[in-house]
Amino acid sequence: MLIAVPRERDPRERRVSLVPETVARLTQMNHRILVEEEAGVASGFSDQQYRDAGAEVAKFERDWMKPADLVVTVQNTDFSASSPYASLKERTYIIGMLGPLSSPPEMFEVLLKNKLTAFSMDVMPRISRAQSMDVLSSMSTIAGYRAAIMGADQLPRLFPLLMTAAGTITPARVLILGAGVAGLQAIATTHRLGAIIQAFDTRPVVREQVESLGASFLTLEIQTQQTSEGYAQALAEDVHRQELLLLSKPVAEADVVITTALIPGKPAPLLVSKEMVASMRAGSVIVDLAAETGGNCELSQPGQRIVTENGVTIDAPLNIASQLAPHASQLYSRNVFNFLNHLFTMGLGEEEKELDMQDEIVSRTMILHDGQVRHEVLAQRMEQVRS
Ligand code: NAI
Repeated sequence: MLIAVPRERDPRERRVSLVPETVARLTQMNHRILVEEEAGVASGFSDQQYRDAGAEVAKFERDWMKPADLVVTVQNTDFSASSPYASLKERTYIIGMLGPLSSPPEMFEVLLKNKLTAFSMDVMPRISRAQSMDVLSSMSTIAGYRAAIMGADQLPRLFPLLMTAAGTITPARVLILGAGVAGLQAIATTHRLGAIIQAFDTRPVVREQVESLGASFLTLEIQTQQTSEGYAQALAEDVHRQELLLLSKPVAEADVVITTALIPGKPAPLLVSKEMVASMRAGSVIVDLAAETGGNCELSQPGQRIVTENGVTIDAPLNIASQLAPHASQLYSRNVFNFLNHLFTMGLGEEEKELDMQDEIVSRTMILHDGQVRHEVLAQRMEQVRS
């Protein structure tokens, strides 16, 4: 197959979809790779490294991707009629984190009209055999680590317990709200830095994982069961109010609060109100990883770091994984490679074989095919925009 790797267009996006290591593996499998000039520069991979891995490097022009059978992107969202995507031939495949639950639905119109087949890596089913393709886990692992480092960096205090000749320094107290993949990584990282950690999640099943990483799990009487997908459910309003009440003391006592709570396809739940921020000590830090979907802290300003009147720093980074672009790209690229291998075994690229649409990984990630929307939530969202 001829696989195209475009340079990402979002100014905040530093990752690249395929790193030279993966390109070399694909070229060994007799695929041709066409990489847009400077596609890897922001993540530290030069055009020469791509050439050395066997890729061809293409100058940007409107038709540069036209011969491709497959395009792999991170989250390139310019699919407009003037973009190179509009020149792709019918039935070309696109793989990326396309955000069927959150991207503006109208951005998919050109892809639909041109009958492209799109797979979205961010709706990969959370099943064991898809773990090596799970980009959300890869990116959340990076985000959780980075949030811990940001918290330690912004806090004007030491993290570990220090016993010196001049006396003892007590360790920093860190509170982690949401103990999914990012939260657990934030616990592991802050633990290595020597902090005392408390964590909370509405899914009681995570207690054991939290404790095994050296944190204590807050026992609040509002835990809910998870969905069959392993995700949290949105809380009823009264239960949510109860959660805020119960979290107010641990928040006030924390030096660093890292919030990671998400509900797929919904705005992030509010976990730290402005009153709770007002109760925190000067110098305390909040790192809000949910900024992408509105934030877990009422005062978060997505994409910004602010300091409140009472001296609390609130950091609400966007696309945090992109800050560690070389490793984020490496993990993403490996996830894509594993996904591609799976698609090849399911018949992708074989003329005499139809792609097996019954396979759960294929059917759950394929969001557009042959001019049809195949993802239920995206179809509803597109319908709303059209009517
Ligand atoms: P996520 O990013 O959707 O949410 C982060 C965390 O926020 C979750 O743990 C959720 O329970 C928590 N949360 C939501 N509302 C909250 C509230 N009001 N208060 C406190 N916490 C709240 O979740 P993520 O990290 O993507 O994964 C969720 C789970 O999926 C994992 O813990 C794991 O059990 C499962 N999983 C399974 C995989 C597999 O089998 N392939 C791979 C990755 C995850």
